[in-house]
Amino acid sequence: MNQSELYTAEAKQTAIMQDKANVWHHLSQHSLHEKQDPLMIVKGEGSRVWDIHGKSYLDASSGGVWCVNVGYGRTSIAEAISKQLVQLNFFAGTAGTLPAAEFAEKLLEKMPGMGRVYYASSGSEANEKAFKIVRQIAHKKYGGKKHKILYRERDYHGSTIATLSATGQEERRGQYGPFAPGFVEFPHCCEYRSQFGEVENYGYLAAQELEKAILKEGPDTVGAVILEPITAGGGVITPPEGYWPEIQAICKKYNVLLHIDEVVCGLGRTGKWFGYQHYGIQPDIVTLAKGVASSYAAISCTVTTEAVFNEFLDNPSEREAYFRDISTFGGCTAGPAAALENLRILEDENLVENSREMGDYLLSILKEMQSTTPLIGDIRGQGLLVGIELVSDKASKEPVDESIAAKVAGICMQKGLIIGRTNRSFAKYNNTLCLCPVLTLTKQDVEFIAYTLIDAIKEAANG
Ligand SMILES: Cc1ncc(COP(=O)(O)O)c(C=O)c1O
Repeated sequence: MNQSELYTAEAKQTAIMQDKANVWHHLSQHSLHEKQDPLMIVKGEGSRVWDIHGKSYLDASSGGVWCVNVGYGRTSIAEAISKQLVQLNFFAGTAGTLPAAEFAEKLLEKMPGMGRVYYASSGSEANEKAFKIVRQIAHKKYGGKKHKILYRERDYHGSTIATLSATGQEERRGQYGPFAPGFVEFPHCCEYRSQFGEVENYGYLAAQELEKAILKEGPDTVGAVILEPITAGGGVITPPEGYWPEIQAICKKYNVLLHIDEVVCGLGRTGKWFGYQHYGIQPDIVTLAKGVASSYAAISCTVTTEAVFNEFLDNPSEREAYFRDISTFGGCTAGPAAALENLRILEDENLVENSREMGDYLLSILKEMQSTTPLIGDIRGQGLLVGIELVSDKASKEPVDESIAAKVAGICMQKGLIIGRTNRSFAKYNNTLCLCPVLTLTKQDVEFIAYTLIDAIKEAANG
């Protein structure tokens, strides 16, 4: 289709002017719009989107922020939402609704060992709920002392002040302090950037950093650790061999709750239903957002074990006993209605398997071309979540400047491919390109992504 046929030159001009004059875009320097118009996306279908001028792109970013997992243009999800809204659009989360009850049951079937689903509307919010659960348990059982939450360098957990307080990306948080007290950072687990030189047991050593942090803070002060199963926006860092079992053992040893942030990895992105399920571990809390309804509606979930939930069961006359939290939009029924249809699509179309198969295929092409392509230092990934770390010198691993990564992304755009990249998050290491396409990807799509990206990297390397 040619979207430009749908808009007259005048209509396009009006829309662009309305946007430029009125909208404050996320993560954007608006002075750039004095010289160039903002990107305006007007249509999506399958794995592709169209801009207002009619140009089509294969979207290897699933909506720019890795969330349109089942692809664009799903009328069955739109219809499920519409039907539900006519029946009941909203009632506060203090009560039950039909889609919320049914989705919670179906979700928990995919998460053995987990017991309860608490609804909200964004990933940041889901993580904040988890922090509040940990803090309230600290107050109920440990006189408030066991309230600290440890987080890992390079992980991202959200845009609010508390979730930024728990985010290990110094450039991203730079100007928003002071932060909330009680959040403590420990080192990353990126083997390519090993803190210990070349060692055989990197995974074990990296996990020990958690134990060191717990001991430094005092185990009686640490309530939980929050971790992404695979660090996503922080550079697609797949965990090293042996890392996760050790993390789980350390949490058990010190009675620290394990909170896995599956906001990116959840619901099939990595080729299993949940990222943590690659590693044979059992979390206490799991947070989900982006892929829950593939962003057809805003919904997030804080999922806990029954044991965590039971901490809040008490005599109703105890005023402080229950979880004293609420979010208005956690009562919207469009979210769970969309999530139910999203789940059906994932199952009926075998999209979790497709994510694994297409992810393996994408990795195999990229790895085959690595030695003959300049700048590619490391390729990491699991399912359809892939990162390519760019270096100016493969031997010394000197990272390229962020402008080179931006240039590659810009060339891809010109060639009709949207990719992501680490974006002003760390000093020196904004050098990873990120691929996170829709889970319906075909072999042809994979080949287009891989070969277009390789060409773009070669062009950027040649100046
Ligand atoms: C791992 C992770 N956690 C949490 C969030 C925050 O989610 P939201 O933007 O929906 O608040 C994000 C967003 O990118 C994320 O990548």
